[in-house]
Amino acid sequence: MKRTLPTLALLLAAVHPAGAQPSKTLQRYHSAHLGAEIEVYPGIPFREPGEPCEAEDLVLPILAAHKELFAGKTVMDLGVGSGIMSIYAAKLGARKIIGTDINPDAIKNTRENAKKLGVEGGVLDLRLVSLKDPGAFSVVGKDETVDLFMTNPPYKIAHVMTNRAATADLLDAHTTLALSILEGLDRHLNAGGRALLLYRSKFLHEFVVRRAESLGFEVEHHGTDVVLPTDWCIHYNERAAAVAKAAGLKAQELLIGTEECWGDPMSSRLAAAYELAAVEKKSARYPPLWGKTFDRAFPGIILLRKKSK
Ligand SMILES: C[S@@+](CC[C@H](N)C(=O)[O-])C[C@H]1O[C@@H](n2cnc3c(N)ncnc32)[C@H](O)[C@@H]1O
Repeated sequence: MKRTLPTLALLLAAVHPAGAQPSKTLQRYHSAHLGAEIEVYPGIPFREPGEPCEAEDLVLPILAAHKELFAGKTVMDLGVGSGIMSIYAAKLGARKIIGTDINPDAIKNTRENAKKLGVEGGVLDLRLVSLKDPGAFSVVGKDETVDLFMTNPPYKIAHVMTNRAATADLLDAHTTLALSILEGLDRHLNAGGRALLLYRSKFLHEFVVRRAESLGFEVEHHGTDVVLPTDWCIHYNERAAAVAKAAGLKAQELLIGTEECWGDPMSSRLAAAYELAAVEKKSARYPPLWGKTFDRAFPGIILLRKKSK
């Protein structure tokens, strides 16, 4: 049976295996950018204790280099997680931030971190997205607009998804969420407004850029060479299902499942090595983003600008 987007959204919300690992225990993390400690609830995508932190090391430096996008501006942060990006946006002077998440724990975690760091409810407006309506702007008013839309979206597969067809459905969920972002941006971005979208998968990247271009956005594209194990699984499964059908076999016998994609140590090691290599390769020749150069940056970045009418 085909999974529905809401079911997948729950799985996406709960897990985030490689880039920003959800921890099983409460973590306390000192963020150099925030100049303070935040708490990260169990299950919130962040990092394993002792591992590098994706948000701190790869995302916040981009925001830091572009203070002008925040000072006095309105921002939307899709998928707040621990709240680190939203709280930092407030620190950079954002006038109002709409922060959304589909996971009630993320909303609670962000609210508590924000309160502790003195970010008022009047500045950070947190909204819980319903599993029944997980679209990017489902909790945003028809005429609400912002100057900057940013997201470090959920993008990887759950170890818990062990059914063998799950990888193809996951691709559907990723692309559907990405499309709902793109389709809503024209309505919800102010003229000249920007969007910062972070994706690691080469395939998802191409998909997002093509759609953004066809919708008429100015696109600044810093592509990625990363093909994730899940991407291989999805495309293998598509072909395997067709071969199985032609041979009169049950597709389930040929499809590879999540465990094979992420679960075994070899694939995880390969994924880690591959992503690291991609990041290092990029850093050596990383083009400037919005005119600024970085030593290290998130491996795949898409910047959109809404044309002024
Ligand atoms: C990769 S985490 C990013 C967390 C944080 N922004 C950071 O960079 O550390 C993605 C977040 O998106 C949330 N999420 C998943 N589906 C969502 C949806 N449809 N709408 C809003 N948030 C969603 C997840 O619960 C998760 O907290």
